[in-house]
Amino acid sequence: MVTTLARLLLAVTMVFLLAAPTASGGTITMSFASEEVTSEEALLSLYERWAQHFGKALPSGGALGSTRFTVFAQSVRLAHQRGPGKLKLNEFADTALNNDHSISCYIPMAQPIHRRTHCGSCWAFATASAIEGLYKIEHGNLIPLSPQQLVDCDGSNRHCGGGTPAKAFQTIQLGDGISRLADYPYKGVKGWCYPARKGVGIRGWERVEPRDEMALMWAVFKRPVTVGVDANSTAFIQYRGGLFDGPCNTTLGHAMTLVGYGTTGHSDPYGEPEGVDFWLLKNTWSTAWGEAGYMRLRRGAEAKGGVCGVILEATYPIHSYALF
Ligand SMILES: *[C@@H]1O[C@H](CO)[C@@H](O)[C@H](O)[C@H]1NC(C)=O
Ligand SMILES: *[C@@H]1O[C@H](CO)[C@@H](O)[C@H](O)[C@H]1NC(C)=O
Repeated sequence: MVTTLARLLLAVTMVFLLAAPTASGGTITMSFASEEVTSEEALLSLYERWAQHFGKALPSGGALGSTRFTVFAQSVRLAHQRGPGKLKLNEFADTALNNDHSISCYIPMAQPIHRRTHCGSCWAFATASAIEGLYKIEHGNLIPLSPQQLVDCDGSNRHCGGGTPAKAFQTIQLGDGISRLADYPYKGVKGWCYPARKGVGIRGWERVEPRDEMALMWAVFKRPVTVGVDANSTAFIQYRGGLFDGPCNTTLGHAMTLVGYGTTGHSDPYGEPEGVDFWLLKNTWSTAWGEAGYMRLRRGAEAKGGVCGVILEATYPIHSYALF
């Protein structure tokens, strides 16, 4: 068994093997003061400050009485309840989840797709990110790869309608690999698949035994692993750091890159108690989300499939090689 220190080191070192999670933005979390929540007027001006900070338009019919402002007020109260060190908001503070706006960009291996409202490319990001990390481990260079190429060209997945990293790995293995990000930049909408310089190929991919924590720990000990998670909850999208332990279900609708695991230490920067096991995951919702774009998800709960279903569907690429 690996020691706690070794595990922590693993979690920490793997972070540096991956490019920064800034795909959909790059703005940092916004802090606020307790005085800003004492009255509705104060909340309103906080809302305006928040909208300006993240470059969001205010609700067209006015903030007061709008669903977005109601959700925002709830988020602020939630953050306030969590304590003085946690007065932070991310860019999803006024996002309400419903049938038209869900986190569903990951398609579980045997399930139909859901409706969605923006480009559901998390599967492409998780795929590219896992190969980037593997290539860095095997060859020493960090070469950002192209999720957009997968969105445009991978006919085995559903473009902006979601996808499964396992299928993308298969496409990359059997096709011409995946191009470098520089040769096929991100647009965030489905475009025509165009020819681009070759990047990195893989010789195969594997699936981790479902519901087996130890197997997943072994897999991520060697390289980043893509995982499906249930991210369709307010708590998840508004996560601003610390150990995430739900509430969430296990209906897989989002893909992330698992990059390591660890156990909390004695002076946790987010005030978490010592000795709690966690998984470390990289997301692609900008560095304003979570811990600079990463999430620590409580490890354990093997029987129910891991917190948010994190140990249900995990796949990783094997043997990367340069094509350029
Ligand atoms: C996501 O959650 C919302 C709110 O609970 C729900 O209305 C919606 O159906 C969920 N979407 C999916 C794809 O599960
Ligand atoms: C989990 O699923 C149950 C039953 O579908 C639902 O009532 C609950 O709101 C869900 N919880 C979250 C956090 O999405």
